[in-house]
Parts: sequence; C-alpha cells; structure tokens
Amino acid sequence: MHDEWWKRAVFYQIYPMSFRDADGDGVGDIPGIVEKLDYLAALGVNAIWLCPVYRSPNDDNGYDISDYRDVNPVYGTMADMERLLAEVHKRGMRLIMDLVVNHTSDEHPWFVESRKSRDNPYRDYYIWRDGKDGKTPNNWNSRFSGSAWEFDDETDQYYLHLFSKKQPDLNWENPKVREEVHALMRFWLDKGVDGFRMDVINMISKTPGLPDDATSTATVGAPYYTNGPRVHEFIAGIRAAVLAGTDCVTVGEAKGVNTDGALLYAGAGRKELDMMFQFELDGLDIGKGGKWDVRKFLLSDFKRVMSRWQTALHGKAWNSLYLENHDMPRALSRFGDDGGYRERSAKALAVLLFTMEGTPFIYQGQELGMSNPRFPDITHYRDIQTINMHRDYKNNRGATEDEILRKLHYRSRDNARTPMQWTAGKNAGFTAGTPWMDVNPNHATINAEAQTASEDSVLHAYRRLAVLRREHEVLLAGDFTEHFPDDERLYAYTRTLGKERAYILLNFSGDEVPARFPESAPQSTLRLIYSNAEGEGAVLQPWEARVYAGV
Ligand code: GLC
Repeated sequence: MHDEWWKRAVFYQIYPMSFRDADGDGVGDIPGIVEKLDYLAALGVNAIWLCPVYRSPNDDNGYDISDYRDVNPVYGTMADMERLLAEVHKRGMRLIMDLVVNHTSDEHPWFVESRKSRDNPYRDYYIWRDGKDGKTPNNWNSRFSGSAWEFDDETDQYYLHLFSKKQPDLNWENPKVREEVHALMRFWLDKGVDGFRMDVINMISKTPGLPDDATSTATVGAPYYTNGPRVHEFIAGIRAAVLAGTDCVTVGEAKGVNTDGALLYAGAGRKELDMMFQFELDGLDIGKGGKWDVRKFLLSDFKRVMSRWQTALHGKAWNSLYLENHDMPRALSRFGDDGGYRERSAKALAVLLFTMEGTPFIYQGQELGMSNPRFPDITHYRDIQTINMHRDYKNNRGATEDEILRKLHYRSRDNARTPMQWTAGKNAGFTAGTPWMDVNPNHATINAEAQTASEDSVLHAYRRLAVLRREHEVLLAGDFTEHFPDDERLYAYTRTLGKERAYILLNFSGDEVPARFPESAPQSTLRLIYSNAEGEGAVLQPWEARVYAGV
C-alpha cells in the first residue's frame, strides 16, 4: 500500500531567487542549487519543488512567464537546468516544476500578438471585454490590489488579470490554449521532470458571463473564478492528455477548497490531481477584510483544521503537509515562538510536519528555524503584492506607515523570501555580491553551517524526523485520532496501523503543562522515540514535543 514514490517522499521547496547565488550577481541561480544538493540529501529530502525558473520579466518573481520553454538568464541556461535534473536524479531524488498557466506575462508572445488587434489569431488566448458605461467590464478585484481589469488603448478593450496587470489571465475556454498547455508540459516531461506543482489551478475556469460580485467584501470576484464550472474537466483533460501512464506527481495549489472539494480534485480514482495544498490553515489568522486583516486564532481552531484534513482524506485522498511557503510568513513566527523558545518551537513544528498522514513539504530555511525579518520600512520590501498593498493602504485607506508595517511584519510574502542563511558570514553566504533583498540579521546565529555542526540544532531535528518517518510505517500511513481537542495548549493524537501505534504529544505553548495521555494509550504502554527536550517528566516543558511508539 502507498507505494507511489511521492507518498514516501520528503519534499523541499526552493525559491530560486533566494536560495544560493553561485555567480555573485546578488540573485540565486540554478548552479547555486546544484551546489547544495548534497545538503538536501543529508537532510533526508528526496524530492524538490522548484519555483518558476522560466524566462520572465520577474514582475511577480517568475510567476509571470514570457517563455515556458526557456530559462530565465538570471538563473542560468537550459544546459544548467538539464544538469540540475541529472544531478538530482543521480542522487535518487526527484524534481517537480511550477506550472503557472492561469496567466502568462504580458510579455509572452501570445499576449503581444493578442493585444495587437481584435481579430488577431491569439486574441482569444486571453479574456478581453468591452467596458460597461465607461467603467471596467465587472467589479472584480485583482488579488494584488485594484481592479482585475486593465484597459488597452490599442483595441479599446479591457483584459482580465486576477494578479498583476503584467499577468493577463489565459482563456481556458479556448481549446487551443489547453493544447498549448499540454504541449509545454510534455516539453518538460521530455526533459525528465517528475511532476508539477500547479499554480492557482482552481482558478482557471471562470463563470461564463463574468458576472459582477455583490457578495464578497475582501477578494471581489473570487466566487466566480474559484472552482469554476469547467475546472474539473480542464484538469482531467491535462491528466488524460499528458500524465496518464507516467508516474509523475501533481500538487494543486487551491485556495478556497475545503475537504469535500479536495476529494473532488484529488480523490483516489478521480484521475485529476495527486495532492492539494489546502489554505484553511492559512485562513486561520485572516479576518473578514481579507489577507491584510490580521486576526488572532486559538490553538483549538488550528487543531480543528489540521485534524479535519487528516480524517476527511484518510483512505480517500492523500494530504500534502506544509506550514509555510514563499507566499506566507515564516511558520515559526506565526505558529511557534521566534523569541525565547525559537529552537524548541521550531522543532515542535517539525514534529507536527513529520507525524501526520501525507507528504511533508519543507520550505527553504524552515529546517533552520528562519523567522520573519521585520524590516524597518517599506524600502526593504520587494514583493509586488506588498508594494501594491502599501500604496493602496497609504493613498486610498489613510493608513499610517506604522499600521502598514505592522501588517507587513506579520503577513508580507517577503517574510519568507529573505535569502537562505548558509553561514554567519557576509550576506549569510548567500551571495558574494549585493543580495537582491536584505538578509535577516539573525543569520549571525541562525545558519546552516552552525546547525550542521551542532547535534542539538533545528536542522538535526529535521534530519532525525525524516529518518523516523521512514522507520515507522505508522507515521506514514496510520489512521489519525485526535485527543483533548479543547485543550488550548496541547495537541495530542494517535496514529494506528494494524498493531503499530504512535502517540504524539505537542505542547503548543510557552507554559509548563502536565503531560496528558488518553485512556487508549496509557504511558505505561508507550516508548519515547523522539523528543525535543531533556527527560520524560510528568510535566511538558514549554513547546516540548514527544513522539511515542506503542510497545
Ligand atoms: C500563486 C503563487 C504566487 C503567485 C500567484 C500568481 O499563489 O504561489 O507566488 O504570486 O500564484 O501566480
């Protein structure tokens, strides 16, 4: 059971711009990734999700692609990419690419043609509409602030862009667009990639007529392009045309999908996707006003989401497990304690990641306990969503610089995009040049070199947990039962597989908390197989995490 390679894999997400710069231009690159493959292998990683490295003007750091069949020169050449794939495979590892096909760059030749005239053969590759009463075709908002429509003088029409205006949305209703996507996927499969992480894949089908949205307050329009009417048909089409008969994996990014929805996208036998990235966890600290409306949440809410995904998908679909990525704050700063209990809480989060059912995804630097940088002012930020938000909050919402910064310190995507911290030296060993974004000053103490040398480090905890998961089948495939769901400090659950049992006890607080054991798993029947603290007392230390196996 569960023999698919990707169920047994530990994934590592690389954001190439910030991973390792080998040529000293201040921007990470593909040769830099090759340099660090042995570091990843030692960590226990056996699959990589590589964020976009295609040719792109980098308006949204590569999520705006101008040539799907070429590599951005800032990252290297196609030969570098081929070498990366060969080196990955030589180590028995796999690599999946980011597939960004909800939109292209406005500099993609399809769009350059499309905007030339209303009867251009590429016109229908994108979504063009007339304005209404001198206004935009509908009231939808871009996810990067402002309207989702941009007027183009050339042909007197608007085009739709759910993200930046340099990211026009493709028209998936057009069969030619679908064929183009299939062809570019085949191009990369022929190069040897092992699958795709599919960017905003549940947004590719728009409701016909593109109606005004009278219901949303935060992301106006979202109900009309999220999980749209033909999305399953389009995804099944990709599977049938491109992926059938391969052992490639697909992971869909899917905001606005609950567990029922996930069973439709990734249910075993549905022939659509293999896994989904769920956003319910990400939604916990987001208020009614949307992404920038930060709200507090209780541990019981966190547990409810995690546990629901565990039980609802068990036996029916396979979870992806992640706590951070390039669009989110650092998990340590968000769910852990990046102050006094930095190391212990980072390890506790690692325990969570490796002891649930599903495939763990580590985001670069998470294995070191990297944290949000909390830059002193807007000039240090680079992300287009952040910069647009700053402008919008300042000009249109009367927010003060302090109010904006407080939101950015918590939520900006740049929190996760500071350069990887390799050493305590200059620029954290990321680059010999000037880094495209400032490194977090805490690299003096938090870096891979120091943590490789110290058996006690967060890095070593990740290594050990990756091994533990391989040694105990129950951690991979056991079913999941939560205990003490109302406890606001402990997260406790049992995993069971036939006669094998594991009990996981996590103190998610800065308090000392009595260790609790359910009736079904008394302490006398358990043996400690991992802990992030000394001893095995009756009281858990702050952020103490224990993994027990049944005896
Ligand atoms: C996804 C990516 C994000 C990007 C957006 C538009 O959410 O993860 O980084 O900005 O799609 O492509």
